[in-house]
Amino acid sequence: MENDVFNLIANKYDTKDRRDLAQNIVSAIKPELSNSKDKSLVDYGGGTGLVGLELLPFIDSLLLVDSSEQMLKAAGEKIRQANIKNAKTLRADFSESNPDIKADIIVASLVLLHIPDTEKILRQFYSVLNTGGKLIIVDFDKNEKVSHPAVHNGFTQIGLRSLLTDAGFKEISIKTFYHGKNIFMNQDASMLIAAGIKPAGPDSKTP
Ligand SMILES: C[S@@+](CC[C@H](N)C(=O)[O-])C[C@H]1O[C@@H](n2cnc3c(N)ncnc32)[C@H](O)[C@@H]1O
Repeated sequence: MENDVFNLIANKYDTKDRRDLAQNIVSAIKPELSNSKDKSLVDYGGGTGLVGLELLPFIDSLLLVDSSEQMLKAAGEKIRQANIKNAKTLRADFSESNPDIKADIIVASLVLLHIPDTEKILRQFYSVLNTGGKLIIVDFDKNEKVSHPAVHNGFTQIGLRSLLTDAGFKEISIKTFYHGKNIFMNQDASMLIAAGIKPAGPDSKTP
């Protein structure tokens, strides 16, 4: 169902409000990408590339992964038109099938809320990351004013920390970085950024 929704709105997704919000998200992610010039980044649920394509100056290569063909088509057109050589798209849903790719960094911006099984997708992110790799999540803080059957109404920071810990991540940081009007299903809301590292050695969950 979610897929259908994003396929339907793909051509109209890049509104001024969404572009502005994406700029705020990019500003929050940038400090997490120091020393990442030689790193591969997967933007999971990357959609039309509003966030991922803005991260290109700070990384080596970008793979925009999304379950919606139409959202990726919009991203692919931007990549072609700007003649970008180090960005690609991949249609996939890691919550349904085991991904066969590796990355140094995964960004998941405004996608966790759309995925029912949070534990599973975090485990998948962990398995995709190379040792020492970093997961960066941007999502909404828990918001009791929002209620929708297909969407998590945000995440508590304590709950998300516990889920990331259970998935194997270390050096976890989580903070609220933005408050906005009508940004979450027409409700005022705040957004969090979380980061965690896949550790090397005995702490790693990878055998
Ligand atoms: C709200 S948009 C966010 C797009 C972009 N990350 C941003 O911040 O502007 C959510 C995206 O997640 C994708 N998505 C939803 N569920 C997904 C899943 N299970 N696997 C991959 N992508 C998914 C949707 O198709 C959509 O492109």
